Amino acid sequence: MIVAVPKESAGERRVALAPEGARALIQKDLEVRVQTGAGLASGFTDAEYEKEGAKLAPDTRSLLEAAQVVLKVNGPTPEEREALATDQVWVSLLRPLDAPEEIRALAGSGATAFSLEMVPRITRAQSMDVLSSQATVAGYRAVLLAADRLPKMFPMLVTAAGTISPARVFVIGAGVAGLQAIATAKRLGAVVEAYDTRAAAAEQVESLGASFVQLELDAGDAEDAGGYAREQTEEFYERQRALMGERAAASDIVILTALVPGREAPLLLDEAGTRGMKPGSVVVDLAAPNGGNCALTQPGQDADIDGVQVLGPLNLAGDLPRNASQMFSKNVVTFLQNLVEEGELKIDLEDEIVTGSLVARAGEVVHPVVLEKLGGNG
Ligand code: NAI
Repeated sequence: MIVAVPKESAGERRVALAPEGARALIQKDLEVRVQTGAGLASGFTDAEYEKEGAKLAPDTRSLLEAAQVVLKVNGPTPEEREALATDQVWVSLLRPLDAPEEIRALAGSGATAFSLEMVPRITRAQSMDVLSSQATVAGYRAVLLAADRLPKMFPMLVTAAGTISPARVFVIGAGVAGLQAIATAKRLGAVVEAYDTRAAAAEQVESLGASFVQLELDAGDAEDAGGYAREQTEEFYERQRALMGERAAASDIVILTALVPGREAPLLLDEAGTRGMKPGSVVVDLAAPNGGNCALTQPGQDADIDGVQVLGPLNLAGDLPRNASQMFSKNVVTFLQNLVEEGELKIDLEDEIVTGSLVARAGEVVHPVVLEKLGGNG
């Protein structure tokens, strides 16, 4: 069985499979073909893939023609979609809840498609969880980005030239990215506080040495069965914005990471809250791809709001492509191994990892949540 790894589109530095991942698949009797130069932006040379036993293909078409399985970070380009056939399996991030119409277009190719975002968060699938692995990288990177922009240092320093006060970092949303941002800011010496609507987050925040902001707000049963946040009422968000604004005014850096699956990112820092921050402060909005948690975020852009910098990065994990790809590769190899038996594809429709992530098959969109978003297959 041939597994193909195309080069990602311009602007994406990650690659779905690292040389180490290629070796793992080859050891399982799969043949791996990598498009020439696919790993270069992540620091993996063609020679490293070849050394592990992978073959190189010069272009997308020749690569996809022979493949049974295609592994990518991002969804297919129109060219890749056209090259797909019914007996092929596509595995990548597909943003099924944000761009369900893309799933419909992919289904049109007849290929079987898996969306890595939809892998259920069960213990058996932990090492397949690309959302967690990429959020880990993004949370770390967000703090470095902020530190680079902030006109002051992170740690408290007592020197002959005077005492330097520590930077104050406020993290809103203490999921995977938020916790990594907290840990990174702490390591750099900042004073860190954080807030999340999920009660379970408080203990995790405190175990990292940060303080959990207690708000006089009842988020109710804020966590769903999958560990994700539930949507709150508009009244709750309004109260939350007022309180977040107060904390932001006392902070040098605000890192925003709050998401509710399948929804626009909740608006948690409004214009007044942002303008109320000290000049020189920095907001890094990790929710920018979903519209942003800050009212003044311009997704994909950096804005200067009277001296407050509001950054809306769209692909922070892609800024550290080597580790992001390494982790993605590990996730995708484990995912694929679950679909393969003795070197052949075996798609077990009784397996909740399979049914949870399968979005298209035999020309149809098959995932109930995506179908609901699309209003049916028609
Ligand atoms: P996410 O990226 O969907 O959301 C980020 C964070 O924003 C979450 O912690 C969420 O509670 C928070 N949030 C949403 N609305 C908010 C608001 N109004 N104010 C403040 N915070 C708000 O979630 P992520 O980071 O992917 O995971 C969340 C949790 O899921 C983890 O902390 C963990 O408990 C659980 N998880 C479980 C896994 C497993 O069992 N295999 C794997 C990864 C995560």
